[in-house]
Amino acid sequence: MELENIVGAENIRLKDDGSAVIIIDQTLLPNECVFLTLDKPEELYDAIKQLRVRGAPAIGIFAAYAIYVLAEKYPECDGDEFFARFKTDCEYLNSSRPTAVNLSAMLRRMCAVAEDNIALPRRELLAALRAEAEAIHREDMDMCRAIAQYALTVVNPGDTVLTYCNAGPLATSRYGTAQGPYYLAKETGFDLKAICCETRPLLQGARLTSYELTLAGVDCTLICDNMASIVMKQGKVQACFVGCDRVAANGDAANKIGTSGVAILAKHYGIPFYVLGPSTTIDFNCPTGDQIEIELRDPEEIKEKFYEKSMALPQVKCYNPAFDVTDSSLISGIITERGIARAPYRESLKAMFPEV
Ligand code: MRU
Repeated sequence: MELENIVGAENIRLKDDGSAVIIIDQTLLPNECVFLTLDKPEELYDAIKQLRVRGAPAIGIFAAYAIYVLAEKYPECDGDEFFARFKTDCEYLNSSRPTAVNLSAMLRRMCAVAEDNIALPRRELLAALRAEAEAIHREDMDMCRAIAQYALTVVNPGDTVLTYCNAGPLATSRYGTAQGPYYLAKETGFDLKAICCETRPLLQGARLTSYELTLAGVDCTLICDNMASIVMKQGKVQACFVGCDRVAANGDAANKIGTSGVAILAKHYGIPFYVLGPSTTIDFNCPTGDQIEIELRDPEEIKEKFYEKSMALPQVKCYNPAFDVTDSSLISGIITERGIARAPYRESLKAMFPEV
């Protein structure tokens, strides 16, 4: 089944009766578009771990719905028992992936709502939890659109912007962050072209970003990751837009492995490099990028995934970090739903979000 307009796609939603979360299995795209209906703790955990649902905001939204779905099935029990179970399930879901802060932040938000409403009759408590998960989802849609609007102020019609990994509608809800400007440009008749890096080893750029942009009718060209330097040198790139999984208080930004290399190249060629992300991805409790935990994934993803046969001898050792941290000194601006923060980021991000 083809998604007609990916921007409007419901990549994550709660089943109407609240009994399950429905997602598009992103591991099968672009060749198959399969919807999964999930309601068991292990399958909800596994969906995040296996990247069936992925992208920092998307896993936060998914986790909020997932914990509601689990809570909805708890046997009759008193408030203390309900809350103890709820916290254990939150911890379980949270242990699926460490780097994107949205996962733990949205689960903490759900926990706070459970705690504040624990004395209410069960039906009202569940209604409050469902409303919170829906609010998290709605807020993400609004933030993505605002980010795209600010991002279009730093480029000119006719520009080509290089992007990395997937920070589009599939990674969020509608528009996306780093890919949002292309959709908004398309909608408003602003000529903006994309160069997508394929993003080894899991190919989010090839499988998801070029798929989403092509379905939306955006002019996009796919390159291998190691071609970023030549297209920059040849003057084919006017700016870079990337997403983020956790932005530290000083502006250091964790994103898909390879992002920091793109930033270093952009600096070398004098090309502006922007990080686009909602406030839910800023971790003010994390002082610098050095404190961000980097997920290590199965070496099989490097040697075997997507290949018919292993592309290295079985005894070859692999190292497979899933993210890297771009030093804030390489970032021209961090584009959030409230505007564009510029260096020094500790001060500008704090001033942008004084309530945090
Ligand atoms: O491992 P993934 O596919 O979840 O990594 C995703 C990214 O690195 C995205 O760029 C990031 O989460 C931002 S999504 C708006």
